[in-house]
Amino acid sequence: MKLNTSIAAAEKWLRPVSVLACTVALSAAITLTFAPTHAQSNTTPSTTSTTTPATTASAPAGQKTYPEFPDGPGKDELIRVCSKCHSPDNVIAAGQSRAGWQDTLEDMAGRGAEGSDDDFNAILNYLAKNYPAPTAPRLNVNAATAAQLVAQLMLTQAEADAIVQYRQANGNFKSLDDLKKVPNVDASKLAAAAAKISFN
Ligand code: HEC
Repeated sequence: MKLNTSIAAAEKWLRPVSVLACTVALSAAITLTFAPTHAQSNTTPSTTSTTTPATTASAPAGQKTYPEFPDGPGKDELIRVCSKCHSPDNVIAAGQSRAGWQDTLEDMAGRGAEGSDDDFNAILNYLAKNYPAPTAPRLNVNAATAAQLVAQLMLTQAEADAIVQYRQANGNFKSLDDLKKVPNVDASKLAAAAAKISFN
């Protein structure tokens, strides 16, 4: 009876021990397998991490960095506070005066945007600086000449010609998406010029 219990006890112990042994062996194998990678990443960061911009370093891996927004004070706050309900790209669809931005921020706070006073001040300064009210009147792409398209929208002569030809063949553009359908025109240039374009 006494012997039996001690055998049972020994059996109880044996299993966890062999599991443990297994785990140790496994983790040793893992350490071995990944050792070279560790060694590599240990040697590079000392130089890389000092040269990496703070914004990139502070963004957790996989988080969108919104390259379309110029870097500067207030960008991080804007992305954090203003991307909860809609894309922050909606925020910059059109520039406006500082007073206009102030109204927008109050409107968004009323809708439930959450941030500290410091956050909102940083966002206001960022938006007022980077997305002011358009100063030049917009160019109507449905009436513009190729020369105007070149001069005001920073397009090449070939791109401007393509837009005018497409308009003559297909009728007026109704939206930026319409305009982006024109073959051989750099869509990123059109996106960059969006605030300068009108359709009537
Ligand atoms: C709690 C949700 C929420 C948050 C957070 C939020 N918004 Fe909005 N925002 C909305 C809604 C809803 C609309 C659409 C309003 C409409 O269609 O009338 C909108 C629309 C907008 C527009 C389009 C023009 C307008 O006034 O309707 C701008 C610009 C804008 N938001 C800016 C911001 C900024 C800047 C922030 C950060 C401070 C922000 N939003 C954060 C809910 C939010």
